[in-house]
Amino acid sequence: MMVTKVITISEKLCCFLFFIIIVNEIKCNDNLRVAYEWKQIEFQYRNAIDRDNTIHNKNNVIPVGLEVYKSRLFITLPRWREGVPASLAYLDLNDENSKSPNLIPFPSWQSHNLLDEAPEIVSPFRIRADKCGRLWVLDTRIENILGDAKRYGNTQLLVYDLHNDFLLRRYVFPDSQVKSDSFFANIAVEDGDCDNTFAYAGDLGAPGLVVYSWKHQSSWRVHHHFFHPDPLSGNFTINGINFQWGDGLFGLAISKQQPDGFANLYFHPFSSTMEFSVSTKILRNKTYAESSENYDDFKILGSRGPNGESGASFLDQLTGVLFYSLPNLNAVACWKTSNRAYTIKSQGRIYMSSTDMLFPNDVKVDDQDHIWVLSDRLHEYMYGKLDPNNVNFRILTAHVEDAIENTACDIKTKPLPDLINKLGDILNPKPTPSSASNKLRSSSLLLMFVILNFFINMNFLYRQNCEL
Ligand SMILES: *[C@@H]1O[C@H](CO)[C@@H](O)[C@H](O)[C@H]1NC(C)=O
Ligand SMILES: *[C@@H]1O[C@H](CO)[C@@H](O)[C@H](O)[C@H]1NC(C)=O
Repeated sequence: MMVTKVITISEKLCCFLFFIIIVNEIKCNDNLRVAYEWKQIEFQYRNAIDRDNTIHNKNNVIPVGLEVYKSRLFITLPRWREGVPASLAYLDLNDENSKSPNLIPFPSWQSHNLLDEAPEIVSPFRIRADKCGRLWVLDTRIENILGDAKRYGNTQLLVYDLHNDFLLRRYVFPDSQVKSDSFFANIAVEDGDCDNTFAYAGDLGAPGLVVYSWKHQSSWRVHHHFFHPDPLSGNFTINGINFQWGDGLFGLAISKQQPDGFANLYFHPFSSTMEFSVSTKILRNKTYAESSENYDDFKILGSRGPNGESGASFLDQLTGVLFYSLPNLNAVACWKTSNRAYTIKSQGRIYMSSTDMLFPNDVKVDDQDHIWVLSDRLHEYMYGKLDPNNVNFRILTAHVEDAIENTACDIKTKPLPDLINKLGDILNPKPTPSSASNKLRSSSLLLMFVILNFFINMNFLYRQNCEL
């Protein structure tokens, strides 16, 4: 009788563990869904005449940066090559008619007219919508970068009011802050105070950071060793295409306000596997930011490990999780800023795929706590040719909580005591106070720990597989 009971218990346990493992497998990360996808980008024209009169070379249009504000998803379409009719556009998130919608130029077709004496927008790479309803557009103002490049002037910041799409401000970087190799491809905005907002523009070509004060309508340039590319990093191989990049400061992510009233800026050069941080207290003080005494105020967090070169990054202020792209690994990963160490192990894998995540190029979290990722096969666009029969561009999304579930960035604590209770219930369905059942209880307790240990190991191994 005793023997049969033990067998039944083991059977139950077996099923239970099997169930947990299966459930875990289903719930395991890579938990983003493709919301939009395009083979080629189409625009929405006012009429047929406009469409016929617009020069649009579909092979040359590639989406690079993204941002979400209320019901609009904004996309930058830099002018790498000729025939890009508008370099900033949006789609309506409420329009569910198409998974490949035509894009609407922002703020208007006219703003993108390069025949104008002083075109409003030339070629922005990344944009940022702040919590005050302003869209910050970092415009390189260089057309046809991969061909016969033309500069329309120094890089500029355009700030739009998203309530009415009016241009609030146009700030052209002064000559002293633009070097001959400068290329400003990424921006972060510290919007804790709408009247005293700061924008941070990363210079990847001549490694540096331009800090812009909204209140004082002025900017200054910061230099630090950590903005430079690592000569031992930047050897990329993506789907068989090998190339080398030596890009400096690129990934910029702003934390929420710290007790001292300042945020932390998490940053990395593109051609580097290291992550760094600095308090904006250092950057916002023009005198101190420009001095060479600030060297030790910049912190080294750690390395992402081999092939851990990273492009765009974004910090979700609600969970404190840093998200970043890993082009060399066809992945988007995460790191909890509450972690002490930044190591290979402390990173979580959000999504990895050699089809859906071919060159992840931008990452954002909107005010509804949804993560958005854009992948665009940039390596094929630059070093080969995009096939118009393939899906080339994708936008993936998920709620942040679902995206980080079961990864190293999960903010929910694992309900292990609860699990022990459940196992206990199974082992001792109806506890009877006899000595025989006590004996059984102690041996089953031992069995429980053995099995629990096995389960934890399995789960650990499994999560290892899920990771990068
Ligand atoms: C660069 O990457 C390629 C492909 O992985 C590899 O064959 C080559 O050895 C690498 N070069 C260096 C200098 O690491
Ligand atoms: C800026 O930093 C300098 C030190 O270089 C310090 O003397 C000054 O008080 C700081 N200014 C502000 C506004 O914090």
